[in-house]
Amino acid sequence: MKLLLKGGRIINPAKQFDDIGDILIENGRITKLGGIIEAEEAEVFFVQGLVVAPGLIDMHVHLREPGLEAKEDIASGTRAAAAGGITTVACMANTSPVIDSAILVAGLQQRAQAEGVVHVKVIGALSKGLEGKELAEIGDMILNGAVAISDDGHYIDSAKLLKTGLEYTGMFGKAVISHAEDDSLVHEGHMHEGSVSAMLGIKGRPSVAEDIAVGRDIMLAEYTGSAIHIAHISSKGAVELVRQAKKRGVKVTAEVTPQHLVLTDEVVSGFDPATKVNPPLRSTEHQEALLAGLKDGTIDAIATDHAPHAFEEKDREYRFAPSGFCGLETSVGLILTNLYHTGKFSLAEIIERMSLNPARILGIEGGILEVGNVADITIIDPDLQWTVESKRFYTRGKLTPFEGVKLTGKAVVTIVNGKIIMKNGEVLE
Ligand code: DOR
Ligand code: ZN
Repeated sequence: MKLLLKGGRIINPAKQFDDIGDILIENGRITKLGGIIEAEEAEVFFVQGLVVAPGLIDMHVHLREPGLEAKEDIASGTRAAAAGGITTVACMANTSPVIDSAILVAGLQQRAQAEGVVHVKVIGALSKGLEGKELAEIGDMILNGAVAISDDGHYIDSAKLLKTGLEYTGMFGKAVISHAEDDSLVHEGHMHEGSVSAMLGIKGRPSVAEDIAVGRDIMLAEYTGSAIHIAHISSKGAVELVRQAKKRGVKVTAEVTPQHLVLTDEVVSGFDPATKVNPPLRSTEHQEALLAGLKDGTIDAIATDHAPHAFEEKDREYRFAPSGFCGLETSVGLILTNLYHTGKFSLAEIIERMSLNPARILGIEGGILEVGNVADITIIDPDLQWTVESKRFYTRGKLTPFEGVKLTGKAVVTIVNGKIIMKNGEVLE
């Protein structure tokens, strides 16, 4: 089977390549790349005027399997990824049961092979049952394919446990992904602590909780020499701590979500439970620090923290609603509208942060268009105007704070293993 992508603008940040050219895919792999390619018996797909990028990789996704299928499962979550132009997701361990053993990692990978339409990488828990007490089977999980280790959703209160965890992950060259918010400071808080929370009378989660947590995590990474990755970084102080640590050569990386880049705590004043996330949406000063950090390379990656919940759970009074909302189907549109069309970021800078850098952090294949590589490709129309309509989403957790928002830019084709699995927003599998 041959597929020839003709006339697209190939943007391949790994090679600093940005030019018009063709790509030939044979048997799931890229066999020719760039320039004008002729191929007999190939299906020709004309992509003039469109951007051809290495498949986007979302390193922070809650697929909710096993056990929480009312919110999402592998079939619905990977279809949402395909619809959003994402060819690989890494899924978090806060499921039921928690993914804290090698057998669960292996089982989930098998399920993903059978049910998933994009690649699924599994992140194993750091502590058994996410209880923060005893280490999970870190080594065995990694040997069975886990790409990182994380208690996401929870901060690891015990410095001792994280230190030991880092010592193990370091031996395997994998990162611990930290949900960094000091629990004693955020306990029972529902939004960013500041003037808006004071006005609304909602208990806050102060930014200093994140600063403290990130500070400690960096110290332990520095001490052990192991890699730490800060999930959904959201505070100005945390960005500065990561910046300084990188200068010292600490193995620290960070990701930011589209929602933290695009929204502030002002949106909570409508009491829409869709705006409730952990860590919370913060004030403009933090938002600006996130944009600056993403621009100067302090923040390496954009990840959605796609965290779907069933409508009945989420559609409740603000303080009772669970945190998190879906992100896979809006991330490209939000980022292109707010980062590219505002002139703040180039397309190459965006693709690097949504594909190449996540691949590097997780130590997985992908993020690079290269002859011989698996043909995971995202084709983007950067100028396509569309409106967010959650009823069209493939995810099960449809509530989004971006309902009805007009965006410019969208993934129009998703190719996984050389096969077109999404075209014009429709998932074909
Ligand atoms: O808002 C969030 N929701 N943040 C997290 O870290 C976890 C996630 C979830 O699992 O729902
Ligand atoms: Zn988290």
